[in-house]
Amino acid sequence: MSEKVIIFDTTLRDGEQCPGASMTSSEKMEIAHALARLKVDVIEAGFPIASPDDLAAVKRIANEVGVSRNGSYAPIICGLARCAKKDIDAAWEAVQNADRPRIHVFIAASPIHMKYKLRMDPAEVIARAREMVAYAHSFCKDIEFSPEDASRAEPEFLYELLEAVIEAGATTLNIPDTVGYATPLEYGALIRKIRENTKGIEKCVLSTHSHDDLGMGVATTLAGCMNGARQVEVTINGIGERAGNASLEEVVMALKTRESYYGLHTDIETRHLARVSQMVSNFTGFPIAPNKAIVGRNAFAHESGIHQDGMLKNALTYEIMRPEDVGIRQTNLVLGKHSGRHALSNRMEEIGYNLTDKELDLLFVKFKELADRKKTISDIDLEALVSSDIHQINSYYQLDGLQISCGTIGMPTASVRLVCPDGELRTVAEIGTGPIDAAYKAIDQIVQVENQLKEFMIHAVTEGIDAVGEVSVRVESRVPSEVHPQSEEPKTLLVSGYGANNDIVVAAVKAYLSALNKIIDANRNGNGNNGGAAHG
Ligand code: KIV
Ligand code: ZN
Repeated sequence: MSEKVIIFDTTLRDGEQCPGASMTSSEKMEIAHALARLKVDVIEAGFPIASPDDLAAVKRIANEVGVSRNGSYAPIICGLARCAKKDIDAAWEAVQNADRPRIHVFIAASPIHMKYKLRMDPAEVIARAREMVAYAHSFCKDIEFSPEDASRAEPEFLYELLEAVIEAGATTLNIPDTVGYATPLEYGALIRKIRENTKGIEKCVLSTHSHDDLGMGVATTLAGCMNGARQVEVTINGIGERAGNASLEEVVMALKTRESYYGLHTDIETRHLARVSQMVSNFTGFPIAPNKAIVGRNAFAHESGIHQDGMLKNALTYEIMRPEDVGIRQTNLVLGKHSGRHALSNRMEEIGYNLTDKELDLLFVKFKELADRKKTISDIDLEALVSSDIHQINSYYQLDGLQISCGTIGMPTASVRLVCPDGELRTVAEIGTGPIDAAYKAIDQIVQVENQLKEFMIHAVTEGIDAVGEVSVRVESRVPSEVHPQSEEPKTLLVSGYGANNDIVVAAVKAYLSALNKIIDANRNGNGNNGGAAHG
């Protein structure tokens, strides 16, 4: 009989900490709903002390996704906190309304982190951790504790620290390989030694948290499981700080495909994996590599003649998982020009979106516009429309009209008309090196946000001449000092933007506007420094 591994998803916390991966609050809600549908056990919804926006987003997730309605599934909702009362107060404020709230408290534990980052000696770290876990436990019975940089900590010190927090009420002990330094064998041995040497550990769940700096995130996570860890901390598509975290879909499918080897299973509804992966990719602007395990475009494509021949004779020759097990997306026609709002609403529900009536109304308009220009509309087109047109942040500036002239004769020129925050329409024409450059220059004239375009990616969502094109941009901006008065260094903010349309220049304009709207929003809400806060 195999044992269950708890899936703790930290896409919305560690994943969002990755520079440029910041998401709007409606995108976070959509992802939280999709994670619940996937049946993750725990959603780490954010780091509530990081900003008022973070706190509000975690609170909303706790209220909407963390509460069961008519018997619906509600995962544990977790908020991260440093060992400080104000962090724990914010985390509790954010998660308390969930049916099953959790506070995750962490403190640095390696000699280098304690000395240079915390400037505390080991005894002080133990005392602080004990006191803050007890404080968190006075609000909430489900307390997770993480000794940050555990894989570079002294094992003897870890046992002592963990014993102290167990006595203070910790119920899950997470062992982070914060900098992705451990080899799988070392990490597995660390988990085993902790299990063998820490008093009271049998009352707690041991958890893995692996980063992918040396490409070992999934391997160390699995090594942890083989040595007694029964919770894994993972992110969709492996997004996260630097090289990212262990990827949820890879860990889950490794456990499922080799269940008899590991003797372990999860409760994940794997047929939703591809869809959630695409959603996270669209919202963050991080494309999925074609050769990415489990969810990459080529993960189930058999190119060589020998492989194709084998597959035709028996799929098991080269296929260890079936594409339908992970919900690899179909590009079939699902809706057409004559489909009504009801059919659209049903389809969106079937593919895992939770749209409000207002969002559905808007989507229906966009869908009809697209159906006029494109004969067949697939799930993938619908997903692109949602990411591009529905989940945009407070749209301070919206595209109202665009006219382009380009080609081999004359100067590429763009006339752009935007609806401004005060409702006024402003039109500017500019010339540029190409139509997109001209359009971006015209937008800059109106929006006036100092910024630098760092990345521009363009590709077709589906095949064919009438395909919807997707554009992802990454834009950097300086954070004004009034947003970060406490900081001496000028801070920069990196945001992503996404746009989709079957006119590629329109898609590019939407992507740029969505990034600029995020910058404006971050500056207005004092949320200028995305990323790094939890490790700061
Ligand atoms: O990598 C890490 O150490 C973390 C902790 C905050 C758990 O993300
Ligand atoms: Zn981490």
